Amino acid sequence: AKVIEYRWDVSHQFKSPDCFRKLAITINGETPGPTIDAQQGDTVVVVVNNSLLTENAAIHWHGIRQIGTPWSDGTEGVTQCPIMPGDSFVYRFVPGTYLYHAHYGMQMSAGLYGVIRVAVPDGTVEPFAYDFDHSLLLNDWWHQSTYEQAAGLSAVPFVWIEEPQSLLINGRGQFNCALAGTTDVCDTTAPECSPYVLSVVPGKTYRLRIASLTALSALNFEVEGHNMTVVEADGHYVKPFVVKNLNIYSGETYSVLITADQDPSRNYWLAANVIARQPRTPAGTGILNYLHDSPEEKPPAATPAGPMWNDTEYRLAQSTALRAHPDHILPPPATADRMILLLNTQNLIDGHTRWALNNVSFNFPHTPYLIAMKQNLSDVFDERPAPETYDYKHYDIYNPSSNPNATVGTSIYRFEFDSTVDVVLQSANILKPNKSETHPWHMHGHDFWVLAHGMGRFDPDVDTARFNLVDPILKNTVDLQPFGWTAIRFKADNPGVWAFHCHVESHFFMGMGVVFEEGIDRVGELPESIMGCGKSKLPNRS
Ligand code: C2O
Ligand code: CU
Repeated sequence: AKVIEYRWDVSHQFKSPDCFRKLAITINGETPGPTIDAQQGDTVVVVVNNSLLTENAAIHWHGIRQIGTPWSDGTEGVTQCPIMPGDSFVYRFVPGTYLYHAHYGMQMSAGLYGVIRVAVPDGTVEPFAYDFDHSLLLNDWWHQSTYEQAAGLSAVPFVWIEEPQSLLINGRGQFNCALAGTTDVCDTTAPECSPYVLSVVPGKTYRLRIASLTALSALNFEVEGHNMTVVEADGHYVKPFVVKNLNIYSGETYSVLITADQDPSRNYWLAANVIARQPRTPAGTGILNYLHDSPEEKPPAATPAGPMWNDTEYRLAQSTALRAHPDHILPPPATADRMILLLNTQNLIDGHTRWALNNVSFNFPHTPYLIAMKQNLSDVFDERPAPETYDYKHYDIYNPSSNPNATVGTSIYRFEFDSTVDVVLQSANILKPNKSETHPWHMHGHDFWVLAHGMGRFDPDVDTARFNLVDPILKNTVDLQPFGWTAIRFKADNPGVWAFHCHVESHFFMGMGVVFEEGIDRVGELPESIMGCGKSKLPNRS
C-alpha cells in the first residue's frame, strides 16, 4: 500500500467546455479535476488550497465511507467548517471508489468535480475481464452563473434554473453558438471546445466507468451500435446484465463492458440524453473512434435520441434489474430495528419554494453538527427528534398538498449504534397539478441495500412483503421515481454524522435533505482543521 499525495489549487477560471465562455471553478486549472487513481489499501492525501478570491469551499469524497475518519467527509455544515479563502486542508482516506465534488453552496455545478478510481489489490481477480479501463464523467452545464441560479432559487417570486444548455462528457460538449446568435461569447479555439474521443482497437474489450455528477438531469447513456454489459454499480459487483441504454442518476457510478466488435470503417456516437424531465437540451455527444486517421470524424448516423423521457416503467424496470453479483452477495439483516418513512414534497415557506421531508425543509446550522455534538455545544440545532413518518394512510400523493406550508428545521435522526434502519422514500405531487419529480438520494458514510422500488403509495403493511432480502445490490445513491417509492436498509455502524439528501444540487439547496447520527461517543478526537466557524472552538493554545 502506498501513500499518494495530490496538491490541488481550487480557483476560478474562464472555461469553454461547450465552446461558450463561462467562469468555472477548477482544480489546477481544469474541470473536471484530476482523476484520483489509487489501489485498494492506499492512503490518499489531498492538500486543497482554496484560491477562490471571495469564496469558501468544501470537497466531499462521494462513496468513500470514511470509517473512523468522519471529519474527512467534506460536507460543509455537517462534518466541517468551510475551507476559507487562502486556507489549506488535508483530507486523508483509504479509498473505496468513485467521485468527488464540491459540497458547499452550488459549487458542484460550477465545475468542481472529478472521478476516484481504485484498483483491486494485486492478486485479486474481478468477476469479469477487460483490456482497457476508461472513465466517462457526465455533467449538465448552464451558461448562467451558479450565483445567479442560487439567488433565483432563494428569491420571491421563485426563479427556476430551467434546463441546462449542454450535456458534457468528460467536460466537453457542443453548444451551437451560431444558432444562439451570440458568437462573441464563444471561444471555439479553446482546447476544451472539441468532442471527447474514445479511441478503440477492434476486438478489444473496454471497461467504461460511467459516472454522473449532473446538477439536475437524469441521463440515459448509450454507445451507438454497441451493447453494454453492466458489471458494477457504486463500487459493488452486479449480476451482469446487457443493455443498449443505461439510465444513470446524479451521484451514481456504473462500470459497463463494451467490445469493439462493430464495422471498423467508421466511428460511432457516445451519447447522453435527458430523461425523466421533458428534454430541452441537445444530446451530449462524444466519439467512439475506430478510425485512427480521423478520430474526430462524425459518425455517419443521426445522434441517438435515447428512450422516451417519460417512460417511468422502463426506468423502474432497469432499477429493479440491478442485483448483487451471485458470488459477491452480502445479505442484509433479516429485519430492521426501525423504519423511517420520508415523504418528499415541494412546499412554500414564507413564499419561498422549498423541498421538505415529512414537512420539514432542511437548513444548515452555522456550526457543523459533528463539532457541535463532540464539543457538547448547545443551541446549535433543534435537538427534538426529526419526524419519523407521515400520515401515510391518508396523504394523497397524487395531488398538490392541500396545505403547502412546511417548516424549516435543523433537527436530525439519531440511531442506536449498530442498529438496522429501513428508510422508505415516498415521492408525491409537486405544487403544480399532475407532476411529480425524480430524485436521486445519496447517503454519506454508508452503502445501503436497495430492497425494493414501487409505484404509488407505499403501505408498510403490504409492501414490506416485496422487499428483496436475497440478493439486493449495495449502493450509495438510488433513484426515487415520480409518484413512486424506494425502500433501503442499512446498518448504523459508522460513528459520525452523515448527510442523506437528494443529489439534485438545486433540490438540496432548497432543503431536500436530512442528517443522521450514530455512535458519536465513539468518534475520535476531531482535527482542528475542520473548526473555526460558528460556535466551534479551536483548542486554547498558550
Ligand atoms: Cu455526492 Cu452529499 O453528495
Ligand atoms: Cu430531488
